[in-house]
Amino acid sequence: MKREILITDDGSTTIFIPEMDETYHSTHGGIQEAEYVFIKNGLVPVQANSKRITRIFEMGFGTGLNALLTAIHSKGAIEYHGIDAYPVEMELISQLNYLAEIGGKHSELYNSMINSAWNELFNVANDFTLCKINMKIEDYSMPADYFDIIYFDAFGPRAQSSMWEIEVLSKMVEGLKTGGLLTTYCAMGQFKRDLKSLGMKVEALPGPPGKREMTVATKL
Ligand SMILES: C[S@@+](CC[C@H](N)C(=O)[O-])C[C@H]1O[C@@H](n2cnc3c(N)ncnc32)[C@H](O)[C@@H]1O
Repeated sequence: MKREILITDDGSTTIFIPEMDETYHSTHGGIQEAEYVFIKNGLVPVQANSKRITRIFEMGFGTGLNALLTAIHSKGAIEYHGIDAYPVEMELISQLNYLAEIGGKHSELYNSMINSAWNELFNVANDFTLCKINMKIEDYSMPADYFDIIYFDAFGPRAQSSMWEIEVLSKMVEGLKTGGLLTTYCAMGQFKRDLKSLGMKVEALPGPPGKREMTVATKL
C-alpha cells in the first residue's frame, strides 16, 4: 500500500494512505492530538495515582510517536508494548519531523525505539522498556489483567471498521487491570456502547482541536 508524508496543522508530519484516504494522525495537528488524547488523558492521570511501573499497550505502534511522547513525559518506569501488523518503512520514518517539532534532545531515544528488534522486550532508555509486536491484533494473545493503560490508536472506523468491533475491544478489556484506562480519539456511539457492554465505565471528554469528543473508558 502506498504511503506518503503529509504536514498537519500544528506543523508535525504524518503518513497518509491514499488507498484508504486515511492518515496516521489528526490532520488538525498530529503531535497536539497525541499529547492530548494519550498523554494528558491517559498517562498523566494513571501515573498520578500510582508510583509503580506503568504498563502500556498500544494498538497501532505506527511511527512510534506515542511511545516517544510517553518516554518524554513519563514520571516513572514504563513497560510499553506496541503492536503493528504493518511496520512503517525506515525511509518514511526518516522523513518525519517529530524531533524538530518536539524540541529537546531526543534523537537517541527515538532511534533506539525505531531500531529496536521486533517481538523482544528491549531497554530503550532508563526506566523504559519497549516490546514492538509485529502481528495482527486478531492473532495476538493478550495477557489478562496486565496493562494499566491502552492507547487505542487504530485507523478510524470509516477506514478500518473491524478494529472497532467487539472481538478486538473485548481483547483490550481483558488485557486491562481493574481500574486501568483505555483512551482513544474516537467517540463513535456503537464503540462506546460496546465498551459499556464489556463492563467499562465510559466517559466522553472534550476532544482535541478539530474534534468534539474523545473517549476514556475505565475497567471496573
Ligand atoms: C492510526 S495508525 C497508528 C499511529 C501510531 N500510533 C503512530 O503514532 O504513528 C494505525 C496502525 O494500525 C496498524 N494496523 C492496521 N491493522 C492492524 C491489525 N490488524 N493489527 C495490528 N496493527 C494493525 C497500521 O499498520 C497502523 O500503523
